[in-house]
Amino acid sequence: MTDKKQTESVRAASGMRKGLTNYGDTGFSLFLRKAFIKGAGYSDKALDRVVVGIANTGSSYNPCHGNAPQLIEAVKRGVMLAGGLPMDFPTISIGESFAQPTSMFLRNLMSMDTEEMIRAQPMDSIVLIGGCDKTVPAQLMGAASAGIPSIQLITGSMLTGSHQGERVGACTDCRRYWGKFRAGEIDEQEISAVNNQLVASVGTCSVMGTASTMACIAEALGMTVPGGASPPAVTADRIRIAEETGAQAVKIAQNQLTIDKILTADALENAMRVLLAIGGSTNGIVHLAAIAGRVGFDIDMQALDRMGRETPVLLDLKPSGSHYMEDFHKAGGMATLLRELKPLLKLNALTVMGRTLGEQLELDGPGFKQDVVRSMANPIYPQGGIAVLNGNLAPGGAVIKQSAANPELMEHEGRAVVFENMEDMAARIDSDDLDVTATDVLVLKNIGPKGAPGMPEAGYLPIPQKLARMGVKDMVRISDGRMSGTAFGTIVLHVTPESAVGGPLAHVRNGDRIRLSVKNREISLLIGDAELAQRGVDNPVHEPVAARGYRKLFLQTVTQADKGVDFDFLRSEHTQGSTPKLG
Ligand code: FES
Repeated sequence: MTDKKQTESVRAASGMRKGLTNYGDTGFSLFLRKAFIKGAGYSDKALDRVVVGIANTGSSYNPCHGNAPQLIEAVKRGVMLAGGLPMDFPTISIGESFAQPTSMFLRNLMSMDTEEMIRAQPMDSIVLIGGCDKTVPAQLMGAASAGIPSIQLITGSMLTGSHQGERVGACTDCRRYWGKFRAGEIDEQEISAVNNQLVASVGTCSVMGTASTMACIAEALGMTVPGGASPPAVTADRIRIAEETGAQAVKIAQNQLTIDKILTADALENAMRVLLAIGGSTNGIVHLAAIAGRVGFDIDMQALDRMGRETPVLLDLKPSGSHYMEDFHKAGGMATLLRELKPLLKLNALTVMGRTLGEQLELDGPGFKQDVVRSMANPIYPQGGIAVLNGNLAPGGAVIKQSAANPELMEHEGRAVVFENMEDMAARIDSDDLDVTATDVLVLKNIGPKGAPGMPEAGYLPIPQKLARMGVKDMVRISDGRMSGTAFGTIVLHVTPESAVGGPLAHVRNGDRIRLSVKNREISLLIGDAELAQRGVDNPVHEPVAARGYRKLFLQTVTQADKGVDFDFLRSEHTQGSTPKLG
């Protein structure tokens, strides 16, 4: 190849020359593309620049992304300051409480949208603007599969409100006040007044729910600029982070810092460490498993549990603690946390800044006195927030957020009170005729990946009303579903395999005895193996199917919780083994 041809070939692989539409004549394809974009007023000089795509997830249905217009403006400013050309484009946006049957049903669709639009359109790097629970994992999954230089921009948390002098924020306080209302402790007027105060601005939930968890995980993975996780949505700090993100997106494009160099085994291990140390949402494990699967890793759940035994919860945020995200930001955000966790981190992991995590922590310098991130010597919970359970009820594992559970119930044996599905539960749970006591174990079937479908956050079963009125605040609850990271209680989740594919949970009956021992990491149905097998023969499970459309694709290809509830055909073809690898 001549020098001239080589230069042309390199130029062809970048900017507006990238990924030309196929008309059988590349010269014509570029000519046509430029003609159309010039219709929007662009000059040749602008079109010669490095192109930074910006995934715009603003939507009237997603107030957690309500600051998207301001963020896009700031990202564009950053891109222009660094000499690039910003090009924003829409993708699917998912607002947690606006998605039916559940946002998780749509996460994989959003990841496919993100991946394919990155592939389809000419861009040298991509800024992913995400925040609400499923959006950040969907974007990281999609970008990991697309493989170009990528950087995550978090929308940021909402501000807290105030009800009768008490500070409140979504959504731990949503659940607390709703529990009071159900128990008859507050009336219609007060619950309506609280409703006005729980969400004081646009932005993501203000506690350590899934959105905050994924923001911290994104920074721990090295996928955001430093300090990118914590600034609230409506602050100047958040806008400055957006501007810096735009500028850095140009650099990672110029340096070809592709996402596979960031999403390594070490980065995933750091993310798991952080998940445990922040008392993060159990959903974080599912999403991390899906992201890991896109780059060829399996999460070793037993190793994760061992990691949890040596990783205390340091972050004092609701629901495990008492503060909110804006307090975490004022306390220095992730730099403060990572500084404390430093002895447990893989410091050689590369970040989107082009430096290692260790080098970044050196640059961040010393900390200051604050009361949101505890020291290793004085944690808010001695082990990691999440424990992995096993036993004949969950041969593929289950999880419990032990830091938000009731210590008195974590070693418990009780009688099963079984609901066959969500409809059954809704019809009977508040009935005065329900045969239930406070020491029973509530079991909900068919809310797993295929069961509902989409593994809804229905694992936080409400306390039966007649017990709630007697002052019962917590019971052991078990399901194959998920739970919001903002929720609390002694709740066993992600039972694998799920009941809808014939997991043992499908064969639990009213009156069976169930044992939970978090200390021994055990969740057991106290019947013999032979009887459990016979129940399977007597009552075979027929897996749900759909006639057409996305639901059909979902039911045919969705994996179980331990594989991230991703579609099997979206996982990487190239296996890299399991993570974490502990000595
Ligand atoms: Fe969007 Fe909580 S509802 S982050």
